[in-house]
Amino acid sequence: MKLTEFRAYKRLSISVVAAEGCELVLADGRRVLDLYGGHCVNTLGAGDEELGLTIQRQWKRLSFATNLLDHAPRRDFQNAFAANLPAGEWQYFCTNSGAEANENALKLALAATGRSKVVYFKGAFHGRTAAAAAVSDTKLAAFPSTPFTAVKLPWGDELAARAAIDATVGAVILEPIQSLAGVVEPPTGFLESVRRACDHAGALLIFDEVQTGNGRLGVPWASQHFGVIPDLFTTAKGAAAGLPIGLTVLKSELATRVPESLLGSTFGGGPVVLAAAAETARRIAAPGFLERVRATSAALKRASMHGPVTGVRGAGLLLGLELEQGHVAATVRDRLLERGVLVGTSDDPRILRLSPSLTLEPHEASRLEEALDSLTVPA
Ligand SMILES: Cc1ncc(COP(=O)(O)O)c(C=O)c1O
Repeated sequence: MKLTEFRAYKRLSISVVAAEGCELVLADGRRVLDLYGGHCVNTLGAGDEELGLTIQRQWKRLSFATNLLDHAPRRDFQNAFAANLPAGEWQYFCTNSGAEANENALKLALAATGRSKVVYFKGAFHGRTAAAAAVSDTKLAAFPSTPFTAVKLPWGDELAARAAIDATVGAVILEPIQSLAGVVEPPTGFLESVRRACDHAGALLIFDEVQTGNGRLGVPWASQHFGVIPDLFTTAKGAAAGLPIGLTVLKSELATRVPESLLGSTFGGGPVVLAAAAETARRIAAPGFLERVRATSAALKRASMHGPVTGVRGAGLLLGLELEQGHVAATVRDRLLERGVLVGTSDDPRILRLSPSLTLEPHEASRLEEALDSLTVPA
């Protein structure tokens, strides 16, 4: 017998054996500052004591239960999660990943409107399942056909959006800040304009907050950062700070327009993951938590303007570092790693991405500054 892994990932040259807070401990004993944060997953840093105890206690008390049964962790999650929501009445549905969360948001929006067209944007990434892939701007065609009509528009083009969003469109899906595309923010007024076009056409607006949510921008949700409220939003990654979760959140009034039996999941919304998500939501709401995210963001922005970096974009702890002409992000990433700092790349070869744990302290930014400076020191 032989088993090898499907080559889905281009692995980095290092091997990790442990992680503490915002540091990775490598097999060779080196400690690396992790400014990638498990791709927006490590909301509370690695090995958070309280989260570990919460998970352990819940596992011992009730490790799993079918979704047919009532249990306390579900009610506890609802109270904790509700505290961070934009004003209004919301419902949620729980799955296991960002792609599933988006799949279900699209399903709900098309069922509620009775329409079969979805608008998405150039540069978008919403996941790898059939519906999510249909609205993702990836190089590889994921499936031979899409499950609905998908119309791609240029990101940030108000005129194009106003022209395309008409009464045939059931849903418009977007990342409030496009992450994989290279941390591309919407131009001022763009989200408001899309919101108005959706209201006018009777189309539903979906925000994919898989990366921008759960406190990442220094407020709980990007909708609060931009002051534009969608009809549905999705999240995953950091929502349970390391356990797999997908959340589709919809305005309560929408729920009356779709059959109750439309959605379902075996693992989604189990007691252990909901206990972790409740603890995460409570920590995001705790005094000082988001203030620190904003302070660390300011420190990282200052620290980033060194070495080959010519500009910084993004908000909170989702930042894109623009590199000087002639530098390639993957090469700079590898050289920073040699100097003890892990950062991410993106689909834009001139952009490095930072998405660290939200517990990173402002003073830790100096390690990035030193590593960037050392890249341009003459040999
Ligand atoms: C914005 C966005 N949406 C959706 C997804 C898909 O999430 P998952 O990998 O959990 O399916 C991702 C993953 O990177 C993402 O960045």
